[in-house]
Amino acid sequence: MHIHRFEKIWLIFGSAMLALFLVVLGIGTFAMGMTTPGSHQHYSIDPETVMDTEPFNEPGLRQVGDNEYEAVMLAFAFGYSPNQMEVPVGATVHFIVTSTDVVHGFAIPKTNVNFMVVPGEVSTVTHTFKEPGEYLVLCNEYCGIAHEMMKTTIIVK
Ligand code: CUA
Repeated sequence: MHIHRFEKIWLIFGSAMLALFLVVLGIGTFAMGMTTPGSHQHYSIDPETVMDTEPFNEPGLRQVGDNEYEAVMLAFAFGYSPNQMEVPVGATVHFIVTSTDVVHGFAIPKTNVNFMVVPGEVSTVTHTFKEPGEYLVLCNEYCGIAHEMMKTTIIVK
C-alpha cells in the first residue's frame, strides 16, 4: 500500500502527540495526584450506611477552635440535617456534607459556597461568616417533587 509522504508525516505527528498527551495525563493523575478542579475535596462513603457512619450518625455543629466550627450535615429529600444552626459573627465553618439518597445541591446565596452533594461522597467546604444575618442554604440540584422546599438556615450573630 502506498502512503503519501505528507500523509505519513501527519500520521507520525498525530500518533506522537496522542502518546505525549496520554503520558502527560498519566503523570498528572498517578504521579502528581491531580484531580478535577474545585475548592473542595471529597472522599467516599457507603451511602447505604451513612446514618450509622461517623461523623454522620450525629449531624451537627462542633467547635474545633477559636471561633472555628465543623458542621457535619446530611442532605436528603427534602431537607438538611440539622435544619438550623447558629454561629457567632466571624465564625469559620467547615461544612462536611453527604447525601443519604440522591444528588442534592448546597448553595448559600451571596457567598461563594455552592457545591453538589453526591451520595457516596463526602464534600467539604470552608466558609467564614463575616457579616451577621440569616443565611439560607438551598438545594440547587433538582431532586424531586419538593426540591424547592429543601433548605436549612444558618444564623450568624
Ligand atoms: Cu435536594 Cu433539590
